[in-house]
Amino acid sequence: MRKPWLQIDLDVLKENVRIVRDAVGPSSEVIFVVKSNAYNHGAIPVATAAYHAGMRWFGVAYLDEALELRRVLDKPGLLVMGVVEPGDVPTLVQHRITPIVVSLEHGRALGDAALAARTRLSVHFKIDTGMGRLGVHWKQAAKVYGQLLAHPGLQIDGIMSHFATVEPGRPESAIAQAERFTDFDRRRRRIDPRPVMRHLSSSRAMLYYQEWDFDAVRPGIALYGYGTQDSKMRASTRPFLEWKSNLVQVKKVPAGFQVGYYSTYTTERPTTIGTVCAGYTDGFLRTLSKQGIVLVGGKRCRVAGRVSMNWLTVDLGRDSTAQVGDEVVLIGRQGDEEIWAGELARLCRTIPYEILTNIAYRTERRYLSSAGDAEPV
Ligand SMILES: Cc1ncc(COP(=O)(O)O)c(C=O)c1O
Repeated sequence: MRKPWLQIDLDVLKENVRIVRDAVGPSSEVIFVVKSNAYNHGAIPVATAAYHAGMRWFGVAYLDEALELRRVLDKPGLLVMGVVEPGDVPTLVQHRITPIVVSLEHGRALGDAALAARTRLSVHFKIDTGMGRLGVHWKQAAKVYGQLLAHPGLQIDGIMSHFATVEPGRPESAIAQAERFTDFDRRRRRIDPRPVMRHLSSSRAMLYYQEWDFDAVRPGIALYGYGTQDSKMRASTRPFLEWKSNLVQVKKVPAGFQVGYYSTYTTERPTTIGTVCAGYTDGFLRTLSKQGIVLVGGKRCRVAGRVSMNWLTVDLGRDSTAQVGDEVVLIGRQGDEEIWAGELARLCRTIPYEILTNIAYRTERRYLSSAGDAEPV
């Protein structure tokens, strides 16, 4: 049965890892963000290959994701950047997984749970320096840090924050956030001279601002090959996920032939309509109706009519020799043509993150690797 699939080239990922590692240099750690199943590239094969290429820390959103990684990777540091609960503490300690602390109450609840389990929990303290999402507001951060520092169930091993906006043309808000972070760190050191892992930058900040590397950076999208095209950036990476399917029917049709729900596409001249097995249930957004592009036979072909749940139709042109079973590229390269998640994102007025993470979780993933690193260690 023909279905869409993903082809993921782990050799390119490993190259991206080396490029980013080299750009950042040995004085800072790189925490590779592999949440949401590694932005849908498959967390286990991606983290395993990245580990082989030298990555020693991974960041996820949920405890389950960290546990999945721990099953196959015993050594790397694992940071859960979402909000864990006191009931999670024994599991976190047992599997050496580091959660973040987002408030005084949260920290106390985790610390109390650790004490009750006769253990001590290693945590990273999150400061809200302007993102307004998670963490202790920068004005209260030093005070709350002091209160949690005194908790015998907690060991604060890191401090972190997250940028809301990084625009080199308008850097004011990012600079303000970085200053709040540095200022907090200065005040923190007066009450806690221990070195802790300080991290602030995700991909964009990492790519533009070396001075904000601190002890670690937390890139995600850059390692998946997106958002690194600007020549002013410190690293240039390549995407390595291709999304493919097949033609399941090909029809020669006359002028005036109507295609798809609500017949929104009518052929102007005799042409060839190809039906592709991929629809919005697979993550090919319905917004791409009549404007999306796919590659067939090395050519860019426009989506004809509405994208439906499991199929989409494309106008292949009058002289097309395409046949049932021919490969269709939804994201990736075919011949001299390419289409990547960034282009689809622009068409849909969204970001490549959403295009990638919308691809159906169940989609079969086929891994390419010269070293056989798709297998867990
Ligand atoms: C806290 C945090 N750090 C780092 C990242 C990685 O961001 P990016 O993929 O833009 O590098 C994310 C992603 O959303 C995040 O939420």
